[in-house]
Amino acid sequence: MLQARGIRKAFPGVQALDGVSLSVSAGEVLAIIGENGAGKSTLMKILAGIHAPDAGEMLLDNEPVRFSSVAEAMARGIVLIHQELNLADNLSVAANLFLGNEEIRGGLLGWLERRSMNDRARRLLERVGLEVAPHRLVGELPPGQRQMVEIARALARKARILIMDEPTSSLTQRETERLFEVIAELRLSGVAVVYISHRLMEVQAVADRVVALRDGRNSGELAREEISHRRMVELMVGRDLKQFFRRGHAAGGSSVPPVADVTGIVAETGAASIRPEEHPIRLEVRDLCYQGGPQTPISFAVRGGEIVGMAGLVGAGRTELAEALFGLRPLVCGEVRLDGRPVSIRSPGDAIAAGLLLTPEDRRQHGLVLEESVQHNLGLPNLDRNSRLGLVLPRRESEMAQQLCQRLRVRTPRLSQPVGLLSGGTQQKIVLGKWLVRQPRVLILDEPTRGVDVGAKSEIYALMDEWAAAGIAIVMISSDLEEVLGMSDRVLVLHEGRLAGELPRAALSEQAIMHLATGGSEEREA
Ligand SMILES: Nc1ncnc2c1ncn2[C@@H]1O[C@H](COP(=O)(O)OP(=O)(O)OP(=O)(O)O)[C@@H](O)[C@H]1O
Ligand SMILES: [Mg+2]
Repeated sequence: MLQARGIRKAFPGVQALDGVSLSVSAGEVLAIIGENGAGKSTLMKILAGIHAPDAGEMLLDNEPVRFSSVAEAMARGIVLIHQELNLADNLSVAANLFLGNEEIRGGLLGWLERRSMNDRARRLLERVGLEVAPHRLVGELPPGQRQMVEIARALARKARILIMDEPTSSLTQRETERLFEVIAELRLSGVAVVYISHRLMEVQAVADRVVALRDGRNSGELAREEISHRRMVELMVGRDLKQFFRRGHAAGGSSVPPVADVTGIVAETGAASIRPEEHPIRLEVRDLCYQGGPQTPISFAVRGGEIVGMAGLVGAGRTELAEALFGLRPLVCGEVRLDGRPVSIRSPGDAIAAGLLLTPEDRRQHGLVLEESVQHNLGLPNLDRNSRLGLVLPRRESEMAQQLCQRLRVRTPRLSQPVGLLSGGTQQKIVLGKWLVRQPRVLILDEPTRGVDVGAKSEIYALMDEWAAAGIAIVMISSDLEEVLGMSDRVLVLHEGRLAGELPRAALSEQAIMHLATGGSEEREA
């Protein structure tokens, strides 16, 4: 249906695509994999008419095409769901679904067919399994639901070729499953689906064929029966990643057996090694309630050296809880103790001063200043270290940025590059990296590896392991079950804002987490 040959694209300082070829047939699900910055999104943007290629050709139904706008590509049935959310926050869900595609009656002075649009909206939302009223403002929805609105919007546009750039990075298991059902329906009706994801388990579940990119070039292809985690990693990274989940390495070896082999990866790697009783409690949350939170107060404690996973469905209140702890939501009752002492955190500034740090879930809105440089983004929370008499010392800031970039293997042409132009996963590294030079007591990581490639993921896991070994208490909010199982010493499961249960490592399994996350009661087995 669609063929691209020898596509090249350069941005200032980067050859993003260096002669990539690709084809996709009707009714096929083609997965594109590759490390952060490999050029996946750039290629998709070219197919969808957002960027013009510098060289190369595209054939649609065996006819050469050249799109000079998104509208042109869309008119030919190519629809792209962007990696980063792309909705109008100040408009309703229904308005977003039909933006630029509204039903209008009465010619030039026409009016919107609101009622019929709302009905169609309702059907589309139902199709993606999203329970939200069409008149709700998109800005009020959490990222997972906004992502589902994006997907519904693409369905509204009746694509022949539907490109999904990391559609599941903010979805939970259940929403992801719903999306896979939608994909299966689309495939049956002859739509070609191009699917980009760093979650290789998903690729394995959904793809008919895999195309891998490395440094802007094709690095290989796998047919359905050849798709395996190991082969995909080899094609992307060019090496085998044995030590994926590195829990307990920095502390010097592991003694606890790994959790159930759900992924095929967990089994071959190390497991948590901390003996909780050896470490003091660093963060203690007692009977906490916060504005906009649930009625039931929440209590839990995290020890130094411990990584506590926080699981739950989208909307379970994990992010809200993190925000309350970080001083972004007023507390209504209860108390927070750090190292045994009650602290009063009324703003992020208080939290940072007390040594409690948060990396937010939505990096573009809350984690970065997109138009600012890599150096400034890394420098912003560390102004105290890099300035004297109220003036920033640029040399010191750039040295710090340089070191951090090296340590995190940040892929950027220069330190002055605006972070908004970096690939999604690279942006995530900056969000984590800016806290690296501080010595936090408690680190709350909200979806720390969202959109991050396998190589960088294993680097981030190694970092988390190091942080834990240094005595930091880590709360890891994650919707990636593989990651929760692989990295947590213990898992707290939230359901509708309440703590639905707690699972020690020995009792960890995908089923146990999903059971609690979906409102099942805590079963205490002997
Ligand atoms: N508009 C732009 N201006 C400058 N450089 C860009 C722009 N868009 C992309 N790049 C660069 O092109 C390269 C490829 O980026 P791209 O976003 O395609 O990667 P990706 O494979 O989608 O990565 P990820 O998995 O992190 O999403 C990166 O080095 C990126 O920084
Ligand atoms: Mg991308």
